[in-house]
Amino acid sequence: MAYTWTKSLHLLFVIAWMAAVFYLPRILVNLAEVGEQPAVRERLLLMGRRLYRFGHVMFGLLFALGLPLWLGWRVNPAWWPPVAVGTGWLHAKLVLVALLFAYYIYTARLLRRAGEGGALPSSKALRWFNELPIFLALGAIWLVIAKPF
Ligand code: HEM
Repeated sequence: MAYTWTKSLHLLFVIAWMAAVFYLPRILVNLAEVGEQPAVRERLLLMGRRLYRFGHVMFGLLFALGLPLWLGWRVNPAWWPPVAVGTGWLHAKLVLVALLFAYYIYTARLLRRAGEGGALPSSKALRWFNELPIFLALGAIWLVIAKPF
């Protein structure tokens, strides 16, 4: 019961965070294409900052729920069964999650740079950059579902 609820909430916050991971770079694409429209630019920057903050909170929550799924068996194995003891898939997943998180922080840096009037990469480059988290997230999801090693 505790396990299934923890996992359901973990997934809910994973979905919410991924929305931010996927959409923040789209805002950057819009910023790169906005040209001389200061009001639109300001609005996009505001949307970006708010989305980033939202995503940050969602990451905190998914992490707070991932921890008991991972290590909660040490506290109460009746609530959280030891799903990953002696296996490697969770560590591999955590590597991909760390890369996703680094990607997210890098997007936030680009947003800050744009806010300070700095140049962004071209919108074409940003569109490619936008595809990266798809593979990282797919890898992380596959690892937890297949548990291949
Ligand atoms: C931030 C650190 C994270 C930790 C410590 C963590 C840990 C865990 C653990 C231990 C499970 C339980 C696996 C099981 O019971 O079979 C789980 C489930 C899951 N996690 Fe995470 N996770 C994290 C982040 C993420 C992220 C970022 C994603 C997606 C991109 C993700 C996707 C999933 C999915 C899809 C499941 C459910 C798998 C199933 O069907 O059982 N997790 N997580």
